[in-house]
Amino acid sequence: MGGSTPMVFYITICCVAFVASKIVVSLLCYKRWAKKRRIIEDSLAGEGKMVMFRSPATQALSAKAFVKNTMKLTNKDILGSGGYGTVYKLVVDESTAFAVKKLNRGNENRDLGFERELNAMADIKHRNIVTLHGYYVAPQFNLLIYELMPNGSLDALLHRRSPEEKPLDWESRCRIAVGAARGLSYLHHDCIPHVIHRDIKSSNILLDRNLEARVSDFGLATLMEPGRSHVSTMAAGTFGYLPPEYFDTGRATTKGDVYSFGVVLLELLTGKRPTDESFVEEGSKLVTWVKGVMEDGREEHAVDSELACFPAEEVKKVFAVADKCLEPDPSRRPTMIEVLKMLEQTQSK
Ligand SMILES: Nc1ncnc2c1ncn2[C@@H]1O[C@H](COP(=O)(O)OP(=O)(O)OP(=O)(O)O)[C@@H](O)[C@H]1O
Ligand SMILES: [Mg+2]
Repeated sequence: MGGSTPMVFYITICCVAFVASKIVVSLLCYKRWAKKRRIIEDSLAGEGKMVMFRSPATQALSAKAFVKNTMKLTNKDILGSGGYGTVYKLVVDESTAFAVKKLNRGNENRDLGFERELNAMADIKHRNIVTLHGYYVAPQFNLLIYELMPNGSLDALLHRRSPEEKPLDWESRCRIAVGAARGLSYLHHDCIPHVIHRDIKSSNILLDRNLEARVSDFGLATLMEPGRSHVSTMAAGTFGYLPPEYFDTGRATTKGDVYSFGVVLLELLTGKRPTDESFVEEGSKLVTWVKGVMEDGREEHAVDSELACFPAEEVKKVFAVADKCLEPDPSRRPTMIEVLKMLEQTQSK
């Protein structure tokens, strides 16, 4: 009898603790659910604004359905995260899916990037540019609604491949280089006003279902009105891809994009990231290492070891194009039109 009293006491305590924890968890879940509902209601009550750029893919999509689907997104739907926000895969129905970039409000720079990206993207339609279908602005968050690229980014394909996946063959790498060059050339030379990308890198080159390259992300783009100064004074971009003059002037120019594109070419050729640890340890970088290799005429030794076979002459030519893009003096770098032409010629011979 004497031993059963503490036992009853402990069991009672356990039961009370169990019930209390259930109540706390339920309250937390309810608070989360109520918050989500409030966001949806606020958004639908007119505080949220959804803009869709006349595209057949989004015509059937109502703001309500869109916000509801967005609220259901979880970590499992994340495609990746970058400097401006998180990108989710949003499946609306069996035949409709988007890539949604969620940008949190409350940070002045992010909002600036958001507006810039929208203005630059709204009218841009090209086979080598990721389409922006629309956007959604609400008090709590901003969303960019992009075309979903089923093959992800070049960065993932080159550097984050699982062992079961086949490495990219030479032909695919060439096609990606030409496609990305065509997209960038369009931004620089055919868009009015012209667009400087400012953040060309392998994670901003996405791949459609046919592995055709699409340039994405104009959050850092600078619109250049014809007749206005063709430079911008805000430093932006990603370490490893930045042209040397950025560090002196902080200015973004089309020739800065050409340099960053040259770094992407080196990634395609060598399979190495510009910030590869082995370079950092040696106090060097990909660009310096490749320049040394080229001076010795040993380009073949720098080629990605994953490439089982490659045409040596063609590879040398692409190294030479990259080298031109990476000229320290921006005025000596080719334009993207010239880069595109050189890459196309490399392939056809
Ligand atoms: N339209 C898209 N379709 C499919 N995947 C995408 C799409 N947009 C982005 N992603 C994926 O989400 C990842 C994160 O993209 P995000 O643009 O946020 O970051 P980032 O490109 O690494 O850096 P930055 O913010 O400088 O652009 C990308 O690397 C890519 O894998
Ligand atoms: Mg990006």
